Amino acid sequence: MKMRKTVFFSIFVALLVIFGCKNIRQQPNHVIKRGMLADSGMVVSANALASQVGVEILKKGGNAVDAAVATGFALSVCYPNAGNLGGGGFMVFRFANGDVATLDYREKAPISAHKDMFLDEKGEVVEDMSMYTRAASGVPGSVDGMLEAHKKYGKLPLSELITPAIKMAENGFKLSSRQARQFNRLKKIFVKLNKNRIAFVKNEGKWEAGNLLVQKELAHTLQLIKEKGRDGFYAGETANKLVAEMKKGNGFITLEDLKNYHSVWRKPIVGSYKGYKIITMGPPSSGGIALIQLLKMVAPFGLEKYPVNDAKSMHIMTEAERRVYADRATHLGDADFYPVPTDNLLNNKYLVQRMDDFNPDEASASEDIKAGKFANRESEETTHYSVVDKWGNAVSVTTTLNNSYGSRIVVDGAGFLLNNEMDDFSIKAGVPNMYGLIGGKANAIESQKRMLSSMTPTIVEKRGKLFMVVGSPGGSTIITSVFQNIINVIDKGLGMQESVSSPRFHHQWQPDKIYYEKNRFDTTVLGKLKNMKHRVSERSPIGRVDAILVLPNGQLEAGADIRGDDAAAGY
Ligand code: DON
Repeated sequence: MKMRKTVFFSIFVALLVIFGCKNIRQQPNHVIKRGMLADSGMVVSANALASQVGVEILKKGGNAVDAAVATGFALSVCYPNAGNLGGGGFMVFRFANGDVATLDYREKAPISAHKDMFLDEKGEVVEDMSMYTRAASGVPGSVDGMLEAHKKYGKLPLSELITPAIKMAENGFKLSSRQARQFNRLKKIFVKLNKNRIAFVKNEGKWEAGNLLVQKELAHTLQLIKEKGRDGFYAGETANKLVAEMKKGNGFITLEDLKNYHSVWRKPIVGSYKGYKIITMGPPSSGGIALIQLLKMVAPFGLEKYPVNDAKSMHIMTEAERRVYADRATHLGDADFYPVPTDNLLNNKYLVQRMDDFNPDEASASEDIKAGKFANRESEETTHYSVVDKWGNAVSVTTTLNNSYGSRIVVDGAGFLLNNEMDDFSIKAGVPNMYGLIGGKANAIESQKRMLSSMTPTIVEKRGKLFMVVGSPGGSTIITSVFQNIINVIDKGLGMQESVSSPRFHHQWQPDKIYYEKNRFDTTVLGKLKNMKHRVSERSPIGRVDAILVLPNGQLEAGADIRGDDAAAGY
């Protein structure tokens, strides 16, 4: 019976991959490779052109950090819904000698930001203000982050890493059908929010797949960064343009904010799961702590006993997710401003106890689950890409403007989109953000604080060697997407592409529902979950995981998500 299920599942995945590839081959730019193997180096990202830029850097002798930086700049051109100059992100590094590091280039609240900035006189949330206005923007961190990573670990000159992006912006690139559709759909809002014409808006007619998107102003901004480094963005012409853009609306970012912005090297969050070492991102991301909590909570339950997305397996994982997201809402925030109880949250005894009330046959109710209490307190669009070089160095990067195209406001004359990351703060205690996440004091707005993130760029090590590089966009679903892929590979024995292609589900404590990808789950599995008193709800695709797995023979296997235009490049 189990055998039959496995055969059916394999056929299903194969069909999906074939269907996905067929779809993508119709894109005018390129043939997308999925599940590809490479002997030396690999980049998997949301866009084939960006992956190719990264691999060319590897072929030239650049290391994984050089390739990550070049891919990041390229994504700011060819994947404008999340690749960015005006956003922020996190990088997790594992070097061939086993050293690890993490870089936080998350956006910060402007100096003049305050707790009630998105509330009216009555204390009510002003609709959309934290999402589609100039006030929604945190001080961008991406450019500083990429330059900082390069300064510390890069091998090739910065100019070589930015030039491909400049050329792509200057000469244009061909839109995929997905991108053309998105621009057409967003035309009205782009026109409403931007006073002057922006590159994403076609004056007449509709965008079509294969049309060239030329971004001259963005090319100029990239050129300034190439020539002046940090000052090409955080001072002078670009900074002045950004501040002028703020003044067109109710924006908060000043020249002083830009001058003061600096990314921060943070201590990585490191945990273990069944002998594998998990290296991931700490606060201001909640992702790393939550991921390690999830893995440790499910470890005693032997998930390897159940097939992928079996009801029992989903039940155990959901119950862990419910408890972890309850902790997230109370305890997680920017550790520079709030005493995040990291050691308590990751304590083995605490995590075992947390599942004491787990019932193998019945769902708990989220209203009965509260965040853990500790006696001693310690003082929809993002994008992920994974890079491995021929030396075995690995970089895992997740970067974002927050939702697709951020605030949808382009800095006039500078050609880049502003983030709307302020919505990731808890703008009012108990009021859900755009991902339905709630929070309180730990994640309240404060001047120069970083808003809490779910981004979970992660690297997994097996017996002292690189094993997997993984991450995803998807707001609150990022953590559970990364969690499921680690479980799929370690416990269920799936390959990287098979794992990335397999159906996903998600629970985040509140709302008390298992969300599952529409048309991808067996109705008998859903029926079993309902019998266990789980509330289930179908939704659009969850996350877009781009990952690399090191196979036992040392080859690299890509997992490029079939849910987008994601693609691997390798050599
Ligand atoms: O940092 C965060 O958690 C969110 N700003 C991420 C947003 C995101 O993943 C949107 N993607 N679909």
